Amino acid sequence: MQVVNLTVKFKKKAILKNINLKITQPEIIGLVAPNGTGKTTLLRTIAGLIQPNEGSVSIEGTTVYEDRETYYKKMYYVESNHTLYSNLNGKDHLSYVKSVWKSSIDVEEVIRKLGISDYIHKPIKKLSLGMKQHILLAMCIVSDADVILLDEPMNGLDPTSMKVISKYIKEMKKNNKIFMISSHILSNIDTISDKVLFLKDGNIVCTIESQKDGESSENVYDKLYGTEEE
Ligand SMILES: Nc1ncnc2c1ncn2[C@@H]1O[C@H](COP(=O)(O)OP(=O)(O)O)[C@@H](O)[C@H]1O
Ligand SMILES: [Mg+2]
Repeated sequence: MQVVNLTVKFKKKAILKNINLKITQPEIIGLVAPNGTGKTTLLRTIAGLIQPNEGSVSIEGTTVYEDRETYYKKMYYVESNHTLYSNLNGKDHLSYVKSVWKSSIDVEEVIRKLGISDYIHKPIKKLSLGMKQHILLAMCIVSDADVILLDEPMNGLDPTSMKVISKYIKEMKKNNKIFMISSHILSNIDTISDKVLFLKDGNIVCTIESQKDGESSENVYDKLYGTEEE
């Protein structure tokens, strides 16, 4: 996936300024910044939902504006659990994703592996937040997309659910997936990320390679944004 000279403005204000990014291998990328910085804007632009003022995003050389169908086959974007249909159940959602993404993934096996069979036939409106996040993750797996974008997937989750979700994301990376996961809370994602990108004033101002860099990511967060992490 490649992001080249990406600029996005709302009215006249640039929210993203000339962002460049190249991801060439399966990786879990954390995208961190305080609320209102532009994380969702960046993910939505990569997802083809916001047209950039300048620059482009491509996956294996294809942009959404050149070949929408090919692009969307390779990408899965989870904005929030509000995108789930409250009267449908989890199984309906998984069948829908399988058919639209023309995926060969075995839905029953995903349900078994994620341990969601107890509530997969209940309507979404009867599920807890953690259960809904599991359904969303199952949908990513079923899509079999190469690039998976998750906007604040840990929001509102208890530590146990966070650990479970983290474990599955790590496991899925082994299947050659690129993940980009945003959070305004660094500690929610820095342990699962291979790299953490820090966004500030419209730019990626710092990239930490979680395993290699000596400086802890908390120190970087504090330096960039002050210590008031929520
Ligand atoms: N559709 C829009 N129209 C105008 N301004 C927007 C729109 N979407 C986001 N913004 C503004 O862009 C900035 C970044 O928002 P966002 O990407 O949602 O940040 P984050 O996800 O990091 O919290 C904010 O100042 C927000 O008010
Ligand atoms: Mg956001």
